[in-house]
Amino acid sequence: MRIYKARVLANKHVSGDYRVLEFDVPGLGNIVRPGQFIHLRVPRLDGAVLRRPFSVYKSDRRKLSILYKSVGKGTHAMKSIIKGDVINLMGPLGNGFPVINSGMIPVLVAGGYGVAPLAFLASRTKTKGMVFIGGSTASDILCVKDFKSLGWGVRIATEDGSVGRKGLVTKVLDEWLVKMEPGQTFELFACGPDGMLKAVGERATCLNVKAWLSLDKHMGCGVGACLACVQAIRRHGIVSLMRVCREGPVFDASEIVWE
Ligand SMILES: Cc1cc2nc3c(=O)[nH]c(=O)nc-3n(C[C@H](O)[C@H](O)[C@H](O)COP(=O)(O)OP(=O)(O)OC[C@H]3O[C@@H](n4cnc5c(N)ncnc54)[C@H](O)[C@@H]3O)c2cc1C
Ligand code: FES
Repeated sequence: MRIYKARVLANKHVSGDYRVLEFDVPGLGNIVRPGQFIHLRVPRLDGAVLRRPFSVYKSDRRKLSILYKSVGKGTHAMKSIIKGDVINLMGPLGNGFPVINSGMIPVLVAGGYGVAPLAFLASRTKTKGMVFIGGSTASDILCVKDFKSLGWGVRIATEDGSVGRKGLVTKVLDEWLVKMEPGQTFELFACGPDGMLKAVGERATCLNVKAWLSLDKHMGCGVGACLACVQAIRRHGIVSLMRVCREGPVFDASEIVWE
């Protein structure tokens, strides 16, 4: 982990409250792994000392992008970042997703901006899989072209039915799971709101498959010092509090003790 001064290349509106922020940051792009995140200091934000965490959406040797949604003070201020701004960011942070097992079909489940680390995961994986993308409405459905251009199968669900199937993303996941042929093996990878993650974990337990969940917790330091981000994890029969920023954000679903 290092602190970088990253030059902004673009801050593009993509849909609804979502934007993609692209940086020129030599040295970081080629070491970051899918599921890891950066901790970013928002410029020109009065009284803000805390950084904000964002999953890496895309990266190559020089460039790195995040996909963010404006939800509050910090992310609203990020909308005013312009090309040429120099942003202080820390990374790569956390443990990412494990390497996809080539003998299994990777099945990704995304809610809202949770699709960002999953799109990055798909871009770094040779095996083609399925992605299930959910959101409240059409503007929450992101990165469909990214997955299609990689040759992945895409299924969509929105709560208001404005695009894809009406309902929760787990509904389209269930419809697909019941059609699986015997002998087909798969592994689940998910990122999104807690309710969705919990539901994906329950399916993994029922079907006796692995699920890797990326948790979204409020963070302070981002480097393991403040304990703002702890999650109860059961490992070898013992429940302990683990830091999402350090031991996570990705955990084996079978280890997560939901409140
Ligand atoms: C590991 C990790 C990866 C993330 N990746 C992304 C990403 O790729 N794209 C993206 O848009 N966001 C991502 N987030 C969430 C993002 O960090 C928060 O939305 C952001 O910090 C909110 O800052 P704010 O100042 O705008 O909001 P605030 O003014 O601090 O809060 C506004 C509202 O958002 C809620 N909120 C704040 N932080 C979080 C959080 N971590 N999770 C859920 N709700 C929160 C607050 O309770 C409040 O309701 C990630 C969070 C984590 C922990
Ligand atoms: S955010 Fe400080 S320990 Fe995780």
